[in-house]
Amino acid sequence: MLALVFLLTSATLILVQARMRKHVRDDLVSTLRSETATFAALESTGHQLTEQSVTLLAAQPTLKALMSTNDPVTVDEECGPLLKAAGADLLVLENPAGEILGFSAKSDDIPLSTVKRLMRESFGSQDWWFAGNHLFDVSTHTIWIGTEDSRRSLGRVAIGREVSPQSLLSTGVFGKAAFAFERHGAVLLSSLRANAWSEFENSLGGAETPNDKVEEIDFESERYLETSVELPGDHPVRLYCFQSFDQATSFLRSLNQLLLVLGTLVLIVGAAFTFVISRQITRPLERLAFGTQQLEKGDFDFQIPIVGHDEVAGLTRSFEQMRTSLRQSRESLVRSARLEAVGRLAGGVAHDFNNLVMIIKGYSDLLLETATPANRPFIDEIKNAGDRASGLTRQLLAFSRKQVLEPQVLDLNDTVKSMVKMLRVLIGEDIELITNLSDEIGRVKADPAQLEQVIMNLAVNARDAMPSGGKLIVETSSAELDDAYAATHAEVAPGLYVLIAVTDSGCGMDKETLKHIFEPFFTTKEAGKGTGLGLATVYGILKQSRGHISVYSEPGLGTTFKVYLPALNKSAPLPSQQRIADAPRGQGTILLVEDEAPLRVLAAESLKKLGYSVLQASNGLEALAVADQHNGEIDLLLTDVVMPRMGGAELARKLQAKRDAISVIFMSGYTETAALENNALGQRFILLNKPFSTEAMARKIAETLSPKPLTNAASGGT
Ligand SMILES: Nc1ncnc2c1ncn2[C@@H]1O[C@H](COP(=O)(O)OP(=O)(O)OP(=O)(O)O)[C@@H](O)[C@H]1O
Ligand SMILES: [Mg+2]
Repeated sequence: MLALVFLLTSATLILVQARMRKHVRDDLVSTLRSETATFAALESTGHQLTEQSVTLLAAQPTLKALMSTNDPVTVDEECGPLLKAAGADLLVLENPAGEILGFSAKSDDIPLSTVKRLMRESFGSQDWWFAGNHLFDVSTHTIWIGTEDSRRSLGRVAIGREVSPQSLLSTGVFGKAAFAFERHGAVLLSSLRANAWSEFENSLGGAETPNDKVEEIDFESERYLETSVELPGDHPVRLYCFQSFDQATSFLRSLNQLLLVLGTLVLIVGAAFTFVISRQITRPLERLAFGTQQLEKGDFDFQIPIVGHDEVAGLTRSFEQMRTSLRQSRESLVRSARLEAVGRLAGGVAHDFNNLVMIIKGYSDLLLETATPANRPFIDEIKNAGDRASGLTRQLLAFSRKQVLEPQVLDLNDTVKSMVKMLRVLIGEDIELITNLSDEIGRVKADPAQLEQVIMNLAVNARDAMPSGGKLIVETSSAELDDAYAATHAEVAPGLYVLIAVTDSGCGMDKETLKHIFEPFFTTKEAGKGTGLGLATVYGILKQSRGHISVYSEPGLGTTFKVYLPALNKSAPLPSQQRIADAPRGQGTILLVEDEAPLRVLAAESLKKLGYSVLQASNGLEALAVADQHNGEIDLLLTDVVMPRMGGAELARKLQAKRDAISVIFMSGYTETAALENNALGQRFILLNKPFSTEAMARKIAETLSPKPLTNAASGGT
């Protein structure tokens, strides 16, 4: 860039200089020509004057009388006054025999011999004499005596007007020009320095020079332009005029220097300016690059200031938006990863805890049947504690998404409507319940009981946030979560959703609380009032249903929880409502497989009470052996999923291969649906969600076995 500017500047300078030189040269040439022409004109005028003087002098009777004496002494004596009277610089009088009778000159260094020779050689009326280093423009005239017809010559008179450097310069014709008079290649007179004379003489080369021709010539390494004109006479001289081209162009040199300095200055300033401008562009770009590196290193807080409104500012703005959304997305990822980890831990604990709770509950059921009035209240307490523990476990399992869902197609408006009564009771009279349900929403596929739990947990929290009353608004609407939203919220797939918003006018939450609300056991409530599992459960249920929850809250201004569930088509069919009858008794042989012995024994007891024959085994392999030994029919396999040696799925497959008619119910505390589905068991298995009550078990079994005639049931041992 700079090089280009430099090149252009230099080219411009050279061009300007060439044009200026040409201009100056043309100017000089015309000056030279006009000076020479003016001098020639002046000279001719001067010559005419001399000619008139000589004519007048020749006609004077006194001169004629003087010349008639033909006496050199007399004539010479009179020469001085005559010279003065004529106002000339040189006067010569010659007799008809060609002898000089008188001679007078203003300068006394003019040799008479030279004058004699010159007078002899001048035959016309005009000549140029060079004598004793003086140049004279000489006019000559014959002195006649007598009348026109009989006249005779008394001799000739010559008058000279000296042309000296001083006289020439005083005319002012030459200005700054120099001049030289030359004849036959020799300089007669010149305003040039003496050293230059010979150089000039050498340059002449003897060739005829036409008038007015302009040539270039170098004296003492200085360049001159020269033109010349011939001055007429018996022995003409040539007048040369010189103008120094170098001097004339010297201003160009200084102009050049000035331009060079200016150019350099402009270049430096331009470079500085370019640098500043380019820095203004490159600095933000550098910052952007640095910001990107920071992002790569995981620093999402590195801010880049946005300066101005140009393209770079636009780019920076986009980068800032990207950084913000990346940070949000990362925060959301970190949060869900943390919840995931806690969930896995909680799920593991809950699974084992579940079995223990079932044992406690089951045995207290058994004990209650034979309890005396004295110890019944104690056993009731044990059972109550078991129930509470079972509730907690369910919540933990919900959070860790390890519960078995029974999703169905739902109209959320119906779900909310069916809950209104219960919600009013739940929130109390001080809180106004407002429902605002949109008819536009699509259907969703979810477990209705779980969804009720979600709404209930949110309502209970809202109630707790409004101890002295307020408003609780439950709204439904359809919502679309777009790509931009999905980008900042990990695990959200863009698409159409049904939204339930639960808004309260309660105390709200600060930022710190908001960060932790979905964590299990996080509560701000006093000990005994909250376990901190409510929202964790909600979170788990929604995650398991491919839903999403977000919260907006400000301290003192209330809270809105927004629950999103993937929307189905509005015309998706709702399942027909069926009421299942109370725990039915039944008949048939059940193979019960469970590795947890107390649980197995408990279940076996309950099954027997319901009228079934029960075969028992503690794992898959043992179960296969028991089945092999049993000759009669086995109607149902009721098995745990995860067991040592052989799991439930494999056992079911093997048994079904041998006994085509056998039905299967899996008991599971957490979803191993995937594992079960991977085992390609088809549709013939049913899940029983642990912890389950005896009634739930009985209903499931009755449901499974109902299509079969109950008459062929064989009895079996334990
Ligand atoms: N609507 C709300 N308004 C204000 N704070 C809320 C609201 N909902 C939840 N919170 C805050 O979130 C915390 C966690 O809620 P969460 O439902 O998980 O547990 P909890 O209500 O404290 O106990 P639990 O629901 O297990 O009885 C609450 O302690 C409370 O501080
Ligand atoms: Mg709660």
